[in-house]
Amino acid sequence: ASVTGLDDTIPSPARTQNRQIPPEVQPGNEFRNTPDTDPSLPQNRIWGRRILEHVPESRLGADIVAAHRVSDEPQLDAILTTAAAAGREWGTRSGAARAEVLDRVAHVLECRRADLCEVMAAEAGKTLDQADPEVSEAVDFAHFYADRARELDRIYGARFLPSALTVVTPPWNFPVAIPAGSTLAALASGAAVVIKPAALAARCGSVLVDAMWEAGVPREALQLVHLDEKPLGRQLVSDPRVDRVVLTGSYETAELFRSFRPDLRLMAETSGKNAIVVTPSADPDLAVRDILMSAFGHAGQKCSAASLVILVGSVATSRRFRDQLVDAVTSLQVGPPEDPRSRMGPLIEPAHGKLLDALTTLEAGQSWLVAPRRLDDDGRLWTPGVRTGVRRGSAAHLVEFFGPVLAIMTARDLDEAIDIQNEVEYGLTAGLQSLDAEEIGRWLDRVRAGNLYVNRGITGAIVRRQPFGGWKKSSVGAGFKAGGPNYLLGFGSWKPVPHSA
Ligand code: ALA
Repeated sequence: ASVTGLDDTIPSPARTQNRQIPPEVQPGNEFRNTPDTDPSLPQNRIWGRRILEHVPESRLGADIVAAHRVSDEPQLDAILTTAAAAGREWGTRSGAARAEVLDRVAHVLECRRADLCEVMAAEAGKTLDQADPEVSEAVDFAHFYADRARELDRIYGARFLPSALTVVTPPWNFPVAIPAGSTLAALASGAAVVIKPAALAARCGSVLVDAMWEAGVPREALQLVHLDEKPLGRQLVSDPRVDRVVLTGSYETAELFRSFRPDLRLMAETSGKNAIVVTPSADPDLAVRDILMSAFGHAGQKCSAASLVILVGSVATSRRFRDQLVDAVTSLQVGPPEDPRSRMGPLIEPAHGKLLDALTTLEAGQSWLVAPRRLDDDGRLWTPGVRTGVRRGSAAHLVEFFGPVLAIMTARDLDEAIDIQNEVEYGLTAGLQSLDAEEIGRWLDRVRAGNLYVNRGITGAIVRRQPFGGWKKSSVGAGFKAGGPNYLLGFGSWKPVPHSA
């Protein structure tokens, strides 16, 4: 049964192959990325509208979080004891047996697409065009890691040693895809999981985990906890029975976790301050479209988002390019996610701290190309902002704001643009808009970031096609990339058997 009952009344969307991979990308492999819901089909638009109609009601809905609230140390201790024991059992199952469960997870997540989209809109403010691909990504993770679990059998057999217990602490900004990816990878590797969803997206985490249980993941091996008190978070990360912690969050949180326990095996995807470089050879229509989607999708609240655009040479002085960008940004419809016209939704919580400063103040030499405006009383709904005159070394160049505010910088040539890009201490995603093969080659060689995108938006990595993971301060001990061929190896170890001479 579905948590909200929605899937009983809303038909599944008509599936189309709008994300199909060209056959040459995956010779001989059965894995195919799951297509998103195609909004050009009338029945899918009806499906979408019916989800959105339920969003206001869903915000007020019954508390599905309460059942898994943990409020004291003994309660958390008991959960860890059960999970560690369950992990030892789960890890003795073959990779193929675990894969079978994960394939069922993929199926249940697909069946619950409406439920998941609804809760993401209601709780995290995601517009449907942002929520729907998250479900596809979660489904992809399930199938992809199922394949990897079968591969562990083939390559290592009983010589692969899974961890008993992994803790997963996902963020609120991808409240389905990221917890799904981390949890399913750990389960595929043979570890039990204790997942603590982000407090701001606790309901999304609950609906997701419920789907996994329904698919047959043993409840003992996948424990859901919503922690009441900060000290419980410390207890969770510090417990010696926990072999690994998968964190997606800020660099500061990763440091905090390490301070709790110096021997912690942490796999952390952390912050980003990502730039798109536009050269004079770029297609301006494509560049503006990709900048818009990368900077303002989910109101800029993505570690992968573009918060810098570096205009090179004649683009920097091109009035036409600026006008086109300004037109596009000011045309972006901002509103609540339940309004189907909204292209950009609200912030997850009222703007405060660094983000509020970035939305309301300018540094020396800067001016607004498009000034952000607050549209509501509590400060969650803002129109996007674009600042110009941004100097190297300024906060707008170097600090992650995590919101709908974009900085424009200029560079003499491509090499200077790459220097500006590389000066940032993070290195998660990076984009280039150029139709010149030499420029593309030079940029790919020199830029230091985990995920590089040419003539494409820089968010929304697709499982297997764009394994995801950062460099520099965007990653703390993460090792292999999520959604890539080796990710599961980071969750365990293996016994090499020496060949006899
Ligand atoms: N995997 C997410 C993206 O690529 C963070 O945008």
